[in-house]
Amino acid sequence: MSKKRTVRSHTCGQLNLAHLGQTITLCGWVAKRRDHGGLIFADLRDRYGLTQIVFDPALAGGDVAHDLAGRIRSEYVIWVKGQVRQRPPGMTNSKMPTGEIEVVCTDLEILSEAKTPPFPIEEELDVAESVRLKYRYLDLRRPVLQKNLLIRHRMLSIIRNHLDQNQFVEVETPILYKSTPEGARDFIVPSRLNPGTFYALPQSPQTLKQLLMVSGMDRYYQIARCFRDEDLRSDRQPEFSQVDIETSFLDEEAFFPILESMISKLWKEVLGQEVNLPFPRMPYSEAMNRFGSDKPDVRFGLELNDLSEIFSKSEFQVFRNALTPNVHGRKGSIRGIVAHGQAEKFSRKDLDDLQAHAATFGAKGLLWIKVQASGELQSPAAKFFSDSEKKSLAETLQLQAGDLVLIVADKNKVVFDALGAIRLQLGAKLGMIPKHGEGKPAFLWVVNFPLLEFDDKEGRYYACHHPFTSPRPEFFEDFVAGRNLDQIEASAYDMVLNGVEIGGGSLRIYRPDVQAAMFKILGLTPEEAKEKFGFFLEALQYGTPPHGGIAFGVDRLAALLCGVGPIRDVMAFPKTQKGHCLMSETPSDVTPEQLAELGISVTRKAQAE
Ligand code: AMO
Ligand code: AMP
Repeated sequence: MSKKRTVRSHTCGQLNLAHLGQTITLCGWVAKRRDHGGLIFADLRDRYGLTQIVFDPALAGGDVAHDLAGRIRSEYVIWVKGQVRQRPPGMTNSKMPTGEIEVVCTDLEILSEAKTPPFPIEEELDVAESVRLKYRYLDLRRPVLQKNLLIRHRMLSIIRNHLDQNQFVEVETPILYKSTPEGARDFIVPSRLNPGTFYALPQSPQTLKQLLMVSGMDRYYQIARCFRDEDLRSDRQPEFSQVDIETSFLDEEAFFPILESMISKLWKEVLGQEVNLPFPRMPYSEAMNRFGSDKPDVRFGLELNDLSEIFSKSEFQVFRNALTPNVHGRKGSIRGIVAHGQAEKFSRKDLDDLQAHAATFGAKGLLWIKVQASGELQSPAAKFFSDSEKKSLAETLQLQAGDLVLIVADKNKVVFDALGAIRLQLGAKLGMIPKHGEGKPAFLWVVNFPLLEFDDKEGRYYACHHPFTSPRPEFFEDFVAGRNLDQIEASAYDMVLNGVEIGGGSLRIYRPDVQAAMFKILGLTPEEAKEKFGFFLEALQYGTPPHGGIAFGVDRLAALLCGVGPIRDVMAFPKTQKGHCLMSETPSDVTPEQLAELGISVTRKAQAE
């Protein structure tokens, strides 16, 4: 076969009326073939588009090609040579860039035959996702997924350019590394050369990028692969990518504009949407109190109201329990959401469903109140409400006939998690959440996060972000003295878009004594701190610049730009909820020899499902 017959002069999305009469060559996949007796038509597809090919036996040179075209089937890869001509009147397709022309084939070569694919390569598919993931390379032939990968690519190239223009240097960091504390489980890799020891795959390059600041790199970034063994969801994969950024000698005021302009470029250049700058900033406490979430979707109302004061002397046991301090002296609260005028849209079953949803966030119940036409409150707990409580409630919530109130009383974490989720559910049911491309994107910074979170069960503190995050300067003294730990705010910030956390970061602790104090507060013994982070604590002693950074979730950003929900739709080869790659059947067994070499024996193995 001569080489010429495998290359093309144009792509399948390129030809139009400007090419009329030209002899061209195309390569691609047969998307559709229609045999009209005398004439055969085929749509030829590649990444760039579709072009209609006509095989006409009556034309000079066309007869041989026409005979061969009788053999081609969907997904065959072919090479065609032919002439561009205008489609006859009435046969044009204004939706396609190539819709006004067709190519009359004078020469055809079948480059590859194809088995009948397990599903048709079409935009809209009603095929189990497991089948699509098993044949991911065929799924990826669908233009919709190709478009997603192209948007992702475009996004990354805009990001790279922006960071390059701002003196950020891309540095790769190791994948075989040591445990990095981002709060998930580590994936570990046995070392053959050092039997019995393990690498951990980085949950993020956190310590490494900070060490690059100690090295004087000043401004670093990396499109970094991160690995976290955690429960998976539609926006969480076990391996994912971050735009990981770290910089020295910048505070939030200097750093945020660089990030805001990077993100706004994406929305402008990819979606043509203008973004208002600077992004508003909302303290964490406000985000929780108003939206029950540290990643609030501020595009609609249904905000939370604190009803604890109103019910401070309630006879309802559930309410009283919530306001009684626990053994650690911490009190819960009673909060509610009002959906004005919506009561009749919610049947008992709808309310039960909402309660079941709230229960998945730990709520022991979801109390509903409907305001009847008479103004009376209808509720399973109505009999416990005093007249003055009813009056205060009506005043505070500005209740009117037809309103629905949903209340959770519990410790604050449960109240916020449950009502935050109920708010989103209500917003969706009531059609209040704009669809992709509708309205302005609602970017904001959530700032002033708490530094530490107390775990009631374990009776100890955890770092809310990670243990390298600095307290805000005004809390420094308390922190070092170990005082008022619950009240200490962190120099941490998340960037949120339409209710999705797209990035999170912080200014870092850069004094070794403060870092050591943090490890101590988190319950690490000096030995543990040394074993896990000794190298890091030591590095901080050799001249550490004040520094800080952020990481954006590449997959989440791409999903938002593409207008898709699950991040697997913007990943070439994603894993399932259970962490499987169905295409390669990974994870899989290794040979006894491999295990012996590593000094590992498998004692427990999951049963086949
Ligand atoms: P954090 O843990 O907040 O911060 O992660 C930063 C961003 O990464 C994305 N992300 C994920 N995306 C997909 N699947 C996952 N399992 C997943 N987990 C996180 C989110 C999140 O906002 N080292 C710090 C950053 C820093 O302090 O600079 C870090 O990793 O969009
Ligand atoms: P019970 O006392 O369990 O019969 O519950 C009476 C009502 O109170 C039901 O509508 C429950 O959904 C609601 N309820 C129970 N626990 C809570 C809670 N922690 N917060 C809000 N409502 C609750």
